[in-house]
Amino acid sequence: MSRHALIVDGRRILVERDPMDRLLDVLRDAGAKGVREGCGEGECGSCTVLLDDQPVCACLVPVFQADGASIVTSAGVIDAAGQDALASAMLTEGGVQCGACTPGIAVTAHALLAKDPAPDRDAVRDALAGNLCRCTGYERILRAVLRAATAKEEAS
Ligand code: FES
Ligand code: FES
Repeated sequence: MSRHALIVDGRRILVERDPMDRLLDVLRDAGAKGVREGCGEGECGSCTVLLDDQPVCACLVPVFQADGASIVTSAGVIDAAGQDALASAMLTEGGVQCGACTPGIAVTAHALLAKDPAPDRDAVRDALAGNLCRCTGYERILRAVLRAATAKEEAS
């Protein structure tokens, strides 16, 4: 066991954990329920969080690698300025069905739009390539991210 300091959605937390414990478990045990486990093997993207602004699968990151880092979960993304556009676009386009993939997709799309505010379809498809969705066939999610980008551009 060792002590690890993390900043989770802007809140500093201290945890006593085995350094190899998965960041996914540490975050959920700390109350960050916006992080969702899917495959647990780095294949589905459900557990995506931003680790110092980079999307990572929290199921693959040992907590010692996140020591001192800023972590943003889907809850932090929804609170972030401008994310109403994405949430509303996902609803308008029908990009949310069972919701299992939604937290990871919200985090990945947030990272994309922060880096590239006006992505084309290929850029959105590439960014979301690691986020699996069994329900929507992806087209609705693609359209939602493009719609959110347009809405944010028009609002700025
Ligand atoms: S739960 Fe982490 S990638 Fe699937
Ligand atoms: S909405 Fe069900 S897995 Fe994506």
